[in-house]
Amino acid sequence: MPTMYAFDIATDPATLYDDLQAALDALTADEPDAIANMANAAALIWQYLPDLNWAGFYRLVDGELVLGPFQGKPACIRIAIGAGVCGTAAATRETQRVEDVHAFPGHIACDAASRSELVVPIVVGDRLVGVLDLDSPSPARFTPADAEGCAALMAVLGPRVA
Ligand code: SME
Repeated sequence: MPTMYAFDIATDPATLYDDLQAALDALTADEPDAIANMANAAALIWQYLPDLNWAGFYRLVDGELVLGPFQGKPACIRIAIGAGVCGTAAATRETQRVEDVHAFPGHIACDAASRSELVVPIVVGDRLVGVLDLDSPSPARFTPADAEGCAALMAVLGPRVA
């Protein structure tokens, strides 16, 4: 088991998510603890995806979303299913890609700097485990390729945090 990780991650958008997926797979493959795996996933994404001001997880606990491992400023702890961008992703089980958070009804502002947001549900079998939440200080930061890339990352991570 290595004590130090060094990944070769491309900055080229075409290969960035392939590299991130390989790194996430390597980081989490042998570890059964969900919190540890979410923590490393948040750190990896924070380190290598540019222009973020928050990256982390909310876990589904007793019917609501509860703050999990993240990088960025301290954030709201509990979010009801259906509330805000995260709660909408949880309720619909569909990725929410919000180009302007100020135009999203019910957006929950944890950090006033946030301008755009991407939330990807983590579903394992038929169970919602939680969501990945990424915030950016730039409007329209997240493209459809980011949504697809992050969904692919959560497909790898899901069984390891369930
Ligand atoms: N903006 C989110 C809340 C979580 S914070 O951004 C970390 C939302 O509307 O669900």
